[in-house]
Amino acid sequence: VIEIVKLPSEMQARAQRWRAEGQRIAFVPTMGYLHAGHVSLLEEGRRRADILVLSIFVNPTQFGPREDLDAYPRDEPGDLHKAESAGVDVAFCPLEPVELFPPTALTWVYVEGLQGVLCGRTRPDHFRGVCTVCAKLWNLIRPDLSVFGEKDFQQLAILRRMHADLHLSGEIVSVPTVREADGLAMSSRNANLSLSARSEALAIPGLLRSIESRFAQGERRVDVLLSGAVAALAPGRVDYVEIRDAHSLAALDTVRGPARCAVAAWYGGVRLIDNVVLDPG
Ligand code: PAF
Repeated sequence: VIEIVKLPSEMQARAQRWRAEGQRIAFVPTMGYLHAGHVSLLEEGRRRADILVLSIFVNPTQFGPREDLDAYPRDEPGDLHKAESAGVDVAFCPLEPVELFPPTALTWVYVEGLQGVLCGRTRPDHFRGVCTVCAKLWNLIRPDLSVFGEKDFQQLAILRRMHADLHLSGEIVSVPTVREADGLAMSSRNANLSLSARSEALAIPGLLRSIESRFAQGERRVDVLLSGAVAALAPGRVDYVEIRDAHSLAALDTVRGPARCAVAAWYGGVRLIDNVVLDPG
């Protein structure tokens, strides 16, 4: 059965014991409201380790002052049930944000360059919050592997950079985006979409599929691939639709190596992100 740990000190002590026993630890950090995408991350972790740890923590430091922290969906009992079915051994659920961010804390982790583009343009402190909470969680648990979803492709690129730059131990594993039957990428925020906004939001996977197929037919020019993209996302309010290098996040004129087409757009007051791989092979 799943065990729930609330105190960071207890989480750290348990992880130390597992390591001393030679057990391999997989870690899946989340903000809860688990869906099939999270379950695919848990399954990947379960396959690759002896102990599977899930964290559920709605991290206030990655939300801006006018963002949806209060409206972020939460369902701890439902999450624990899904986690148990997915084979989670321990769920780390800090009781209050102050457990990880006490008022005395002054330290932030900031990855220069990568966090100012794409989502960072409209969410300037978002990735600082993500990196800092991940640094704390990684230090408490010191997992052999951590599993992240590719839907948050910029987050993944930034965390990989930070992980390498800080010589952190363990491995980062990524898992492809899981989609609803109609193509919408799974996201906890989908729960906040009205029926009409949800159907309008299908413009996102529709656009990404069409860019993917033009790319598969040989088109490599970024301006051509993106022509008409903003209009295709209507009535969504578009934060960005861009094609960038998959690792450095550099802007491109022509796709010559692994790239991603990434979108952030608002439907009915809900901000959604999605992306597809464009890899010339
Ligand atoms: O991807 C998420 O759910 C969050 O950004 C993460 C990695 C759990 C950090 O709070």
